[in-house]
Amino acid sequence: MMSFEGCNLRLSARNMVFADGNPAARIMLVGEAPGRDEDEQGLPFVGRYGQLLDRMLATIGLDRTKVYISNVIAWRPPGNRTPTPQETEICKPFIERHIELVQPDVLVLLGSASCKALMGASDGIVRLRGRWGSTAIGNREVDTLPMLHPAYLLRQPGQKALAWQDLLKLRLRLEEMSLP
Ligand code: URA
Repeated sequence: MMSFEGCNLRLSARNMVFADGNPAARIMLVGEAPGRDEDEQGLPFVGRYGQLLDRMLATIGLDRTKVYISNVIAWRPPGNRTPTPQETEICKPFIERHIELVQPDVLVLLGSASCKALMGASDGIVRLRGRWGSTAIGNREVDTLPMLHPAYLLRQPGQKALAWQDLLKLRLRLEEMSLP
């Protein structure tokens, strides 16, 4: 990926944002694309969305030693604009291969852009969230839980109750699977 020149976003980005957390974790979270703080530090979800994400994970006893985090797109779109469909298509094989190599038991997709890219979902996140589905990655299906993106929750704090319901669903599934 470091030597891949096929995505124009790398020309304006400072850093490639690959992943954070524990690559041996059984849970993988995938967001949309890095923002300014992520671009500066070269790590996903480190700005205010990341701080909220960490607090959300903590409510069910998770932290970055127990999950692995990445994004569909590895380079910050200029000015945080929405990635174009073409940019998403160019980056998709990388995140799919990334998931395939990590082999998580559970995939959490944050926001509608990652659900659209990876599950082919056409519904918005408010309809998709909290319903287990599956994502075809390589030759396996990965259990997938779409959740509200922390950016959405910061804009709509009244929806945090929905995120809490979804976190509880995730916790329950981890307990069923005897995952720590
Ligand atoms: N939003 C995302 O989707 N990913 C990040 O890493 C940061 C903000």
